[in-house]
Amino acid sequence: MVAEAPAERLGVPFYAPPLADRDFRLIRELIEQVAGIHLSDCKRALLAGRLNNRLRSLGLQTFGEYYARVSEDEAERVRMLDCISTNETHFFREPEHFKLLENTLFPQLERQAELGAIPKRVRVWSAGCSTGEEPYSLAMVLLTKFPASRGWTVEVHATDLSTRVLDAARNGVWPIQRASEIPEPYLKRFMLRGTGSQTGKMRAGDEVRTVLRFERLNLNDETYRVAGPFDFVFCRNVLIYFAQAAKPRIVGQLTRCLSPSGCLFLGHSETLAGITNTMRPVIPTVYAHATPAPQSR
Ligand SMILES: C[S@@+](CC[C@H](N)C(=O)[O-])C[C@H]1O[C@@H](n2cnc3c(N)ncnc32)[C@H](O)[C@@H]1O
Repeated sequence: MVAEAPAERLGVPFYAPPLADRDFRLIRELIEQVAGIHLSDCKRALLAGRLNNRLRSLGLQTFGEYYARVSEDEAERVRMLDCISTNETHFFREPEHFKLLENTLFPQLERQAELGAIPKRVRVWSAGCSTGEEPYSLAMVLLTKFPASRGWTVEVHATDLSTRVLDAARNGVWPIQRASEIPEPYLKRFMLRGTGSQTGKMRAGDEVRTVLRFERLNLNDETYRVAGPFDFVFCRNVLIYFAQAAKPRIVGQLTRCLSPSGCLFLGHSETLAGITNTMRPVIPTVYAHATPAPQSR
């Protein structure tokens, strides 16, 4: 691997180069091939802006040179995907999903467990978990509803393409302002307020950390292994970035990881219409298997 040579260190001023038509086409094809992420023509300036720092760090003068580099360097591909992924997220995003869980789906799971149809275990996958707000929200809700003291086991599997956001999610530290997104009882029980050098920060406590597992996983991989089946798969605000042609395959892999009575949660502007007819909406953006499935796991 070639060592990084920042242009400034070589005494050469860095000018952001233009992204030529050919280089834009080549780089976006590579991104779509590797990650499934489709960048339309109007994302050209965004792509150039997000990759400028990589060119600067590597001491490269053109995007053509960058394409040559990233084509043959696996580690640089990971860094490129880190730069281009959009990671906006919030704690308890899309409150109607949490209402559906608490009012309908959790009571159904409890009833099945009481009847002995399923074990007292809840497994959730946050696919495209970004900096962790989604899986930590789920873990807090699950630990409250399904306590170990009543014999339940809770597991939250959290994955993302970007190593940068996964590091942040594992770290589990956020600016204290994010605390306002978390309902008071969860905040008090599961989060710690930073003091001293950590003033202005909020840290996830040990109880919630113990049920979370983080892993890098590219949803565009033809075959990936994930420890399913899951009762709930959250893949919210991720499909929106994929090329339309890739969605049926990506959704097929997600739904195969769902338990027979499980649900798939998508983001507020996402739909399975035109992608698969094997799933039916429970509410808009939440889907269950279309054909009735046996209740055991
Ligand atoms: C906008 S965030 C959504 C975060 C969270 N699910 C939510 O709704 O708040 C989209 C996430 O999808 C991830 N992502 C994009 N392409 C991916 C892929 N091919 N495989 C796995 N994750 C991907 C991005 O890195 C990013 O963290």
